[in-house]
Amino acid sequence: MTKELGIGIIGTGFMGKAHAFAYRAALAAFPDIPAPRLEMIADVEEGLAARAAHQYGFARSSASWRQLVNDPRIDVVSITTPNTLHKEMALAAIAAGKHVHCEKPLSPSLAESAQMVEAAEKAGVVTQVGFNYIKNPLLKLARDMVAAGELGEITGFRGIHAEDYMHDPDGPYSWRIDPVGGPGVIADLGSHIIGMARFLLGPITEVSADVRTVVKSRPVGRGAKERKDVLVDDVARILVNFGRGCGGTIEANWIATGRKMQLGFELTGEKGSLVFTQERLNELLFYKAGGDAKTAGYARIEAGPQHAPYGQFCVAGGHQLGFNDLKTIEMGEFLRAIGGGERAGPDFREAYEIQKVVDAAIASSSARGWVRVG
Ligand SMILES: NC(=O)c1ccc[n+]([C@@H]2O[C@H](COP(=O)([O-])OP(=O)(O)OC[C@H]3O[C@@H](n4cnc5c(N)ncnc54)[C@H](O)[C@@H]3O)[C@@H](O)[C@H]2O)c1
Repeated sequence: MTKELGIGIIGTGFMGKAHAFAYRAALAAFPDIPAPRLEMIADVEEGLAARAAHQYGFARSSASWRQLVNDPRIDVVSITTPNTLHKEMALAAIAAGKHVHCEKPLSPSLAESAQMVEAAEKAGVVTQVGFNYIKNPLLKLARDMVAAGELGEITGFRGIHAEDYMHDPDGPYSWRIDPVGGPGVIADLGSHIIGMARFLLGPITEVSADVRTVVKSRPVGRGAKERKDVLVDDVARILVNFGRGCGGTIEANWIATGRKMQLGFELTGEKGSLVFTQERLNELLFYKAGGDAKTAGYARIEAGPQHAPYGQFCVAGGHQLGFNDLKTIEMGEFLRAIGGGERAGPDFREAYEIQKVVDAAIASSSARGWVRVG
């Protein structure tokens, strides 16, 4: 196995920092992975990049992402920039022979994502896309329980990813709602819950959706009087059918006033059901049918070292994992795969499959009817 990997991160915002935390912590959590060597971090301005390099412990900084992807001491490139930039950066990194982690959604369009998948698979590099929430050990438990038949035949899935960071109509226009970057909430948050649904239950084969823009215009900048029309969706409500036979619903919503991180699901089966929300990410509720009616109810499964890899972070149950730990699990798996271990994904191809569901939902909403995925 490769002993050391040179890391480069492009972008120093919300996700740039999360990637930096994760690369720094990954070896402490997972001693079997190649050691990440923090080589370079890049942003649009040298000042920003230099500050981040100092703070996150990177050896060098740059105002040029091209310099970063072509640097011979870098083996792994993390792309944490706005969506419109992902494709160009990823293709350049792949052409330079680097392994690539790219934040979700993979790119603004299915056609661009297809190019990214093709380039990565042709080059044989390891890829990873930032669907961090499914790295929760309790979600792995949920998936294993479904696969082992502990819930019996699955009869339904109700999934949601709702937050409120766009609920204020006077919140300014930003790259997140510029249609050049692709669809709105259905790609931004919807991709997480669609990915989670696929992780738990397998492919979604058809959808019927209502995708709408609620906040019709926004100030061009913070406090500006001039407003700009919003062309992307704020809320998406989707009926879904899974290849395994069951149906369900998925909602993506970034104007859900009061909700900060309602990413979760209720999954029902003939023999039991599971309930999860990222708001309480160290808990999985499990209902087992057929027990004594007097004491029947949801049992609260609390995350602990019995749920690998929780124990790599803390030997004691109940002490709880957090968002940055999920990102560390993601990076640990990514680096292990680069070192020759199992490819855990989700990789570019899985992100592309998730994007097919997003596209089908948008097409369905326009056509006002059911659409086959892909
Ligand atoms: N996995 C998750 O849970 C999650 C959460 C939030 C965002 N994201 C995704 O991460 C990506 C970034 O989102 P964010 O919230 O971190 O955004 P952000 O605005 O906080 O950070 C983006 C960074 O990219 C930098 N940047 C822009 N253009 C650049 C260029 N040409 N060269 C170098 N750097 C450049 C910006 O200066 C900024 O530092 C998006 O694709 C978003 O969808 C994922």
